[in-house]
Amino acid sequence: MAPQPSLMPSLRQGTPNASSEGGPTHVAIIMDGNGRWAKAKGLPRSLGHQAGVAALKTIVEAAPALGIDRMTVFGFSTENWRRPAGEVSELMKLLKFYVRSDLERLRRAGVRVHILGRRTGLPADILETIDQAEQSTAANSRFHLQVAFNYGGQADIIDAARAFAEAVKAGQAEPGDLTEDNFQAYLSTANGPPPDLIIRTSGERRLSNFLLWEAAYAEFVFQDVLWPDYGPADLKAAIEEFRTRERRYGGTDVNDALATG
Ligand code: FPP
Repeated sequence: MAPQPSLMPSLRQGTPNASSEGGPTHVAIIMDGNGRWAKAKGLPRSLGHQAGVAALKTIVEAAPALGIDRMTVFGFSTENWRRPAGEVSELMKLLKFYVRSDLERLRRAGVRVHILGRRTGLPADILETIDQAEQSTAANSRFHLQVAFNYGGQADIIDAARAFAEAVKAGQAEPGDLTEDNFQAYLSTANGPPPDLIIRTSGERRLSNFLLWEAAYAEFVFQDVLWPDYGPADLKAAIEEFRTRERRYGGTDVNDALATG
């Protein structure tokens, strides 16, 4: 499959935050802590995940007013298959529930839904849900909601490398054509820019195989709130923290560069 033309700005060109208010415009979230939230309340883990969906709806609704136009959330990782079968099927059901209960509202609000991750291994009803979500919102562009589902950053890089190898095999590319800039066109996030900010809730400080390539120059904010308790005020706090950061993309501070001539 030939890659789409790149929309991702060159990371090495040092693209400043796009928003006039200092960004971030693309926020990615590792929604962690559903299980601990449920446990603390003496509830089954499934209710923690259900509360997680409610928090996700609230955050997606609040995001545009905070200057965000793209949000990527980690719904189910390639490693989550290791969880008990009951919990795996609960997470699958929740994707269906989220799409069923919110798709029409998202569509009318101008949201385009993209589901990132491997399609292989997913049950037929989930594939149908994914197609429905993507197709019915394909004409929208006001806000992009990317749900990583059966997604792993390493798997996505492997799939991109395989796609490039196939292009070479088909005589459409030479091995030497591959660069940091055009490789991203083979990733499942090829349709847009990388995240400015990656948030992880619940106090854990790991990337857990999320957006490995795309995270190259992202800022990280770790918040102690468990995901079901996460609200717009927490997102606002993360954005404020982001705005205190100085993004240099491997270069130097502008003032230092001026001072040293
Ligand atoms: C981490 O909590 C969260 C997940 C594994 C998945 C996140 C899923 C949702 C918010 C709901 C489903 C949403 C979609 C769109 C499918 P955890 O179970 O690892 O919590 P713990 O670390 O406290 O056990």
